Amino acid sequence: MLPHLRMLYNACGLAFLLMLAQSAQSHTVESRNNGGAASGRQRISLNAGWRFERFTSNPDALSYDLLKQWILPSGNDFISGTKHELPSGTPPGGNISYVQDSFDDKSWEAVDVPHDWAIKGPFNAPGISGEMGRLPSNGVGWYRRSVTLTAQDIAAGRSTFLDIDGAMSYSAVWVNGYLVGGWPYGYNSFRLDLTGHLKAGSNLIAIRLDNALDSSRYYPGAGIYRNIWLIKADATHVGQFGTFIRTPAVSKKSASLQLTVEVENQRSTSQKVTISTKVYEYDPLTKKAKGKAVGTFSDVTVDVAAGGKASADSSATVKNPKLWGPAPAQKPNMHVAITTLSVGGMKIDTYETKFGIRSVVHDATKGVLINDEAVRIQGTCNHHDLGSLGAAFNIRAGERQLQMLQEMGGNALRTSHNPPAPELLDLSDRLGMIVLDEIFDTWSTQKKSHDFHLIFPDWHEPDLRAFIRRDRNHPSVISWSIGNEIPNQSDPATGKIAQELRNIVREEDLTRPVTQGMNNAKAADLTAQTMDIEGLNYQGEGHGADTSSTFPSFRVAFPDKLIYTSESASTVSSRGIYVFPVTKENNAVFGPNSGEDVEARHLSDYGLYEPSWGASPDKVFAAQDEHPYVAGEYVWTGWDYVGEPTPFDTSRSSYFGIIDMAGFKKDRFFQYQSRWRSDFPMAHILPHWTWPDRVGLVTPVHVFSAADEAELFVNGKSAGRVKPAKSSNRFRWDDVVYQPGDLRVVTYKNGKKWAVDTKRTVGSAAKLAISADRSAIGLDNDLSFISIAVVDSKGDTVPQASNSITFSISGPGTIVSTDNGDPTDMTAFPSLTRKAFSGHALAIVRATGAGAITVSATADGITGAKVTLKAR
Ligand code: GAL
Repeated sequence: MLPHLRMLYNACGLAFLLMLAQSAQSHTVESRNNGGAASGRQRISLNAGWRFERFTSNPDALSYDLLKQWILPSGNDFISGTKHELPSGTPPGGNISYVQDSFDDKSWEAVDVPHDWAIKGPFNAPGISGEMGRLPSNGVGWYRRSVTLTAQDIAAGRSTFLDIDGAMSYSAVWVNGYLVGGWPYGYNSFRLDLTGHLKAGSNLIAIRLDNALDSSRYYPGAGIYRNIWLIKADATHVGQFGTFIRTPAVSKKSASLQLTVEVENQRSTSQKVTISTKVYEYDPLTKKAKGKAVGTFSDVTVDVAAGGKASADSSATVKNPKLWGPAPAQKPNMHVAITTLSVGGMKIDTYETKFGIRSVVHDATKGVLINDEAVRIQGTCNHHDLGSLGAAFNIRAGERQLQMLQEMGGNALRTSHNPPAPELLDLSDRLGMIVLDEIFDTWSTQKKSHDFHLIFPDWHEPDLRAFIRRDRNHPSVISWSIGNEIPNQSDPATGKIAQELRNIVREEDLTRPVTQGMNNAKAADLTAQTMDIEGLNYQGEGHGADTSSTFPSFRVAFPDKLIYTSESASTVSSRGIYVFPVTKENNAVFGPNSGEDVEARHLSDYGLYEPSWGASPDKVFAAQDEHPYVAGEYVWTGWDYVGEPTPFDTSRSSYFGIIDMAGFKKDRFFQYQSRWRSDFPMAHILPHWTWPDRVGLVTPVHVFSAADEAELFVNGKSAGRVKPAKSSNRFRWDDVVYQPGDLRVVTYKNGKKWAVDTKRTVGSAAKLAISADRSAIGLDNDLSFISIAVVDSKGDTVPQASNSITFSISGPGTIVSTDNGDPTDMTAFPSLTRKAFSGHALAIVRATGAGAITVSATADGITGAKVTLKAR
């Protein structure tokens, strides 16, 4: 054994052996903190206990330009050619007080991450556009906390890393006053090597973020908005994102697996490292391997040069594998590969790789085949924010978003237009969603003056390689998108960049196709020719009133490539708002006399109106059916999001969502549900039927259902039995004249009764109804979503109610934010008073300890309500 290795094992042999014994039982080494013993690998959350301060003018005279030469080498592991040299001499910033231990940060805000400094508002932040959400995301933010290490942690033969899953943006990190590196692109995950900059005792970590105005077309968030980890490992270890598992041959009887492991050796002598890996079934809820190994990779031994890296491949077979496949038709079974490294018979590192066994084929005619079964893409695009929680990622909030999309029949997600939180992909793996994983909204040509184009030349390669390596083991990810609506798509120079980016992806992963969202590229353009599968934004169904389609020209040009709609619809609406008259068409461009209520800044929820480039769902469905080789669509968007409030720039959030930002369903939800879950007996009437000022006026009634016939009864009288237009799930009675009373629809499929729905004219607001999505929540950042409905004396929601609701809480919990889904509501999200919007409001509750939490809601003149949750 090498002398320094022997020293290490002598010093901590017992703890080391103990750890191995425990790891054999639970297989959860990676996430376990074993109390600081310097052996093996530990991944320790650094989320708690930061101090934070935001500055609207530069407090330190630093800038990315000044720091750049010291930051660029942080990307070196992801550059195939010449690496960046670290400049000689002392790095900048060491004299700034914030990076020094002696600085007193007591007056700074105490925060835990994930933290989004902008989301609490207030709205109308100076200089921030409607597109960016009018929240104070700009400025310089400093975060500080200390980390205590032992002498063993920093002894020879040990390495220490800082892993940041996402910080918006231009991160620069000082440790004990020394600039160790950074990463400008705010959406990517990155690692900095702290080894050699640490001491026994307290170590100060200071992180500077810098967000420009006009940096994005949507809300970017601000701050360390994802998890942050300290990694302690043997100096010879599995490298960052250092494993890659492929499943080249999969059947119900057998799967062959291929594994590549990259070992990094930070010792000053070369190491002969044996890599052993076993495969287990994996339970993503308990985060544990299950039972006995179901496969074993053949051991491989590699010589890793001093200060170098080496990779080794091996293969394994799993008999009768439990396959991963998208819900609901298939089961998202997960596996974990547990890799151990040993030197001279001593285990020095253990590393877990979660993965799924599945085959994916992108077939030009049959569409996406997963485990040989055709899976139609019923997808939505979604931005990274979680509404009133902002960009700060929260697992339960992400889970709720995906679960509601699945309830609608959604099975696919496009991470428009940036790398998601790693946990969103964990959720997609667990819930069985397929993912189109997207990295960029801009390349070298700007959309906004301060967007990614500024750093594209230096960073596109490291960003792209880091993104692929991070996400490539997720079975949910089925394709890589290198961009969205890149300017000048027909310019051959753009095509050249597409080629370069595609080549980079192919160097990292040959198992998934490369694509992008193209809104105007022609089939003859180099950019389109470069893609493995063709993603068309809007142009397949035609823009607005135009019905010409580019599907046929792409089909002719690319008979062997899968074609799909990477972005569709952009239909706009405000939940529960109906604007009259209603177009008789199944599709209309919005405008002052077409679906818009200009004064109120709302859009009609009939689901028929779109911007000039978009289409109604009805129009998209018809185009998809007319071109059956098209593999499906990703609708813009599943959920409303902060920013981009087209067409009312002074609002705070989008109108595009099928679900509003608070999580209440717009009518369109049921339109997609009728198409995507066509075996689900459901009928949904719109609009509501409480119109004191419309008595005697034509008030069209529409119904969404997967039925093929429907009869509407208005106050008991038939308004006719009708069929929907071809490819549509919309039944229309456009001449109904409103009188108070009730509506009842009876639907039929194949001549048999299918589903019914009713709506009635409600009375005045009498009380609040309250309900929690879950009445027991955990203590680890878990959330309960508390919904309020303003109801009449019979308990039916008053559809136009806008009562002001005041929330209060008792017990060990806190109300994190409130919302109502109204894009025009500029009340800051933490406010405990929130007006109902179309009868509903929401409060989001987090536990601060174990026990009973009671949330109460009151409103003037009507009866309040309360609900009790258990936190444990
Ligand atoms: C698309 C774009 C999206 C969003 C959408 C709104 O063209 O890709 O990011 O802006 O329009 O309709």
